[in-house]
Amino acid sequence: MCGIVGYVGTEPAAPVLLSALHDLEYRGYDSAGIAVLEPDGGVVSITKREGKLANLEAALNALDASAATTGIGHTRWATHGRPSDINAHPHRSCAGEVVVIHNGIVENYAELRARLRAEGHEFVSETDTETIAHLMEGLVKSGRSLLDALRITCSQLEGSQAILAMSPTQPGIIVAARVGNAGGIVLGYGKDEMVLASDLAAVLPRTRQVAFLADGQVAEITKTGARYVNEHGSPVDVPVREIDIDPASALKGQYPHFMLKEIMEQPESLSDTIQSLVSQEPPEVHCADLGPAEARLASIDRVVLIGMGTSLHAAMIGRRFIEELAGIPAEVDNASEFRYRDPILGPNALVVSVSQSGETVDVLEAMNVARAAGALQVTICNTQGAQTTRVAHGTVYTRAGLERGVASTKCFTTAIAALYALALRLGLAKGRLGPGELRERIQDLTRVPDAVGRALDDMGVYTRLADQYHEAEHLLVLGRGLAFPVALEGALKMKEISYVHAEGYAAGEMKHGPIALIDPSFLTVAIATTHALRSKIVSNIEQVQARGGRVIAVITEGDAHVTRLADQCIEIPAVAPLLEPIVATVPMQLLSYAMALRRGCDVDQPRNLAKTVTVE
Ligand code: F6R
Repeated sequence: MCGIVGYVGTEPAAPVLLSALHDLEYRGYDSAGIAVLEPDGGVVSITKREGKLANLEAALNALDASAATTGIGHTRWATHGRPSDINAHPHRSCAGEVVVIHNGIVENYAELRARLRAEGHEFVSETDTETIAHLMEGLVKSGRSLLDALRITCSQLEGSQAILAMSPTQPGIIVAARVGNAGGIVLGYGKDEMVLASDLAAVLPRTRQVAFLADGQVAEITKTGARYVNEHGSPVDVPVREIDIDPASALKGQYPHFMLKEIMEQPESLSDTIQSLVSQEPPEVHCADLGPAEARLASIDRVVLIGMGTSLHAAMIGRRFIEELAGIPAEVDNASEFRYRDPILGPNALVVSVSQSGETVDVLEAMNVARAAGALQVTICNTQGAQTTRVAHGTVYTRAGLERGVASTKCFTTAIAALYALALRLGLAKGRLGPGELRERIQDLTRVPDAVGRALDDMGVYTRLADQYHEAEHLLVLGRGLAFPVALEGALKMKEISYVHAEGYAAGEMKHGPIALIDPSFLTVAIATTHALRSKIVSNIEQVQARGGRVIAVITEGDAHVTRLADQCIEIPAVAPLLEPIVATVPMQLLSYAMALRRGCDVDQPRNLAKTVTVE
């Protein structure tokens, strides 16, 4: 969940690291710090501050480190040790021989710490990370290379880790290790420089030539390149690939927040995703990265979809697509439950994981369970080369571009589009879709970006609603059928960024409990679009109103009946029934955003959250 970055090159490292930390700050903002080192060694200069990056930035103004061209930087999401200057990374060993930053949890840190203390090591922080620096120091002092010291240290750590380290005794070198699924490390190959970071966002401004560290690999990086070994110290090849993401997508542009920018980008992200997966003339589904999964699709007789948070909601929608378009029984599971369930998966089961980052630890662990059970796996992912794409047999990529807002928006809607394409592909493999239906379904899909664009037209509606309801502390979001996951997702967005206690409910459940909450101060949002079992949800609206509750309804354009009924309505354009969830998602994204602004919340960095959840 923390952000880590390293730089070895010819430029002063501090500004490069700081700029990269801006790109990584969404991963954690409890504290931030950097350590820099001059090419001929000497003393490592460490600057770190509790709180947001601005505090570190202010402290760095006083630092003259222009000769230091190697450095590491960290932005922290606290696990062990409260947020403070002392607990901020980087951490160093007692003699200052090793400096470390870390993402993950050293599960056996208490034992290691006790052992190291008994050996005379003095600890200054409460973190698990500091043990790594002390362990490495002993090895470096005994003459080991930094690479070996990190590799051997990793073998003593329990849990999943991503680690960067450097040492004044071996200047011009950074070493990096990935153990398990605590998050990736991307290595960027620049001209006379290497930059490495937790994710692409921090690497792309400097280079598009990248490599990804896999589980168990350790790398030694100098300004001219990298060498890699496995956990036993044997050399391994790690392919370098070119990433085709425009680095400009990492900038906020004219928007005040990444979240708003990303909401507004949805027509384009959807269009890019759809065009990469289907064509209209002739009607075809490409899904070019399905790899060895492609040939096995015809034999699939059961599908299990997994994901976490927003991606789980996309999976719930994907389940319906697979049942309706491919006629294959499908179920959905929360990845963090699935991984502990010892699931029964026959040889013809397909596990579809949804993860925009491709690095969420519970999804990766669930995929390991599916792999052990011998299931075919396809992953839906927005990050080229991410870990999920390496575990699965095939990938369906979304083309949302970088998503920087902590609350996921465009990755959700593009994942739904990708799941639709996958369901069509399965429908074809099962011989269930004729050419006529395929043409029609593809046409339906290609109309969606435009409809989403029209749904985004009027921000004024949401500002007015937020003015009226910004003091609401509780909110029920009701949906039926395909609108149920839309309701769950809408409630999640509201909770995450505006801190309103919001619950998404299957509308049919309302009478079984939640109705007791309704009183004149209670606000309900009902997804009452044409294809969301509208007549049934209309009764729910009436039941809420009969108890004095207030209702905002999301309706299909021109629905006069619900317009008369609800207190306020938000209209969205009509699209094909199965694809309505994509368009119906937009109102709650914008309402959550407007509420967060009106309530003075930090939209792009909501409290306690991190964008990629790489710790359990
Ligand atoms: C919510 C949100 C999270 C993620 C979840 C899974 O706005 O972004 O719920 O959806 O952490 O992340 P990925 O898709 O990267 O596996």
